[in-house]
Amino acid sequence: MSPSNLPSTSSCQNGDRLTVTHLSQTSPNLSPAGADVREGLQQIPKTLPAQYFYDDRGSQLFEQICDLPEYYPTRTEASILQTAAPEIASLTGNSELVELGSGSSSKTRLLLDAYCQSLTPKQSSVIYRAIDVSGGMLQQSAKTLLNDYPPLRVQGLVGTYEQALDHLPPTETENRLLLFLGSTLGNLKPQACQQFLQRVSQALHPGDYFLLGIDLAKPKSILEAAYNDAQGVTAAFNLNMLAHLNRRFEGNFKLDQFEHWAFFNEKDSQIEMHLRSQVSQSVTLRQLDLRLELAQGETIQTEISRKFKYPDIVESLNQVKLETVHRWSDPQNWFAVLLTRRRP
Ligand SMILES: C[S@@+](CC[C@H](N)C(=O)[O-])C[C@H]1O[C@@H](n2cnc3c(N)ncnc32)[C@H](O)[C@@H]1O
Repeated sequence: MSPSNLPSTSSCQNGDRLTVTHLSQTSPNLSPAGADVREGLQQIPKTLPAQYFYDDRGSQLFEQICDLPEYYPTRTEASILQTAAPEIASLTGNSELVELGSGSSSKTRLLLDAYCQSLTPKQSSVIYRAIDVSGGMLQQSAKTLLNDYPPLRVQGLVGTYEQALDHLPPTETENRLLLFLGSTLGNLKPQACQQFLQRVSQALHPGDYFLLGIDLAKPKSILEAAYNDAQGVTAAFNLNMLAHLNRRFEGNFKLDQFEHWAFFNEKDSQIEMHLRSQVSQSVTLRQLDLRLELAQGETIQTEISRKFKYPDIVESLNQVKLETVHRWSDPQNWFAVLLTRRRP
């Protein structure tokens, strides 16, 4: 099951049912570690890549966010998948599941239930390849899944989407179903989003499937509440990115000198999360040999979360040969799950 030419370290656990592969930081196609942080912090206005939210603590905070009363996306998408999963399994047939940004794989369980139930006597296992930069969360959820799903074989790929898409092993079943849930696609600006979809399409063979969860446009009050929860968990999640960068790149961000700021930018139909410097200050990231000056009130953008319109996303997918086969939504039309198929 382990691919042969990975620039990585792999380990097998739980017999042969779990393989965890750490994709190397030194793959020839990758920029040096931290190049994306340096580039973002040198832009005007300053930005940071959303993947740096997800150290172990960030992943745990994200799980807490998913359960917050204001944060509608997770429970809405889960309710859609609860109904749609058997139909998805029946439409795709015998697929292996590959998930980009798998996190805790909680919603994936709804699909795994359906795929395990539709196994025929000839098929002994369901294959699930989980891809995430957060190695701790990935290992923990993979082990729980193995206990809960006896027919499951799991390959964890610890690394970025791009690294993993470059190193996917050949499909072992009829076809592949690539999952990208949680409206994580909305973290990408329009041009990067289209390039990413192109990359996804290239990683699939004609006849393979791509299942995409997207958050839809809705009133500003609902959106802003979801990213400014009363308990302050989203604020802690946002600030934790600085703690992560301090540890990873020998930085000296002082977390108590920044505040969480999230708002809906109507023009671009996106929630923006920022960290606002409360004082004028300098920050150093020693390992990147980088010194920043921040004015009082200046912000660093840490995330965008775009809110999509259904026809636009169908068109974007269509442009990269991903044809929409079926669409499911909730009664309020807040969230959508699209099953698309790779055209020849
Ligand atoms: C918004 S969370 C979604 C988690 C889960 N799929 C869900 O729907 O609840 C994004 C997930 O993608 C992972 N992630 C973020 N950026 C990534 C990247 N560039 N490459 C790989 N994983 C990434 C994070 O660690 C996190 O688990």
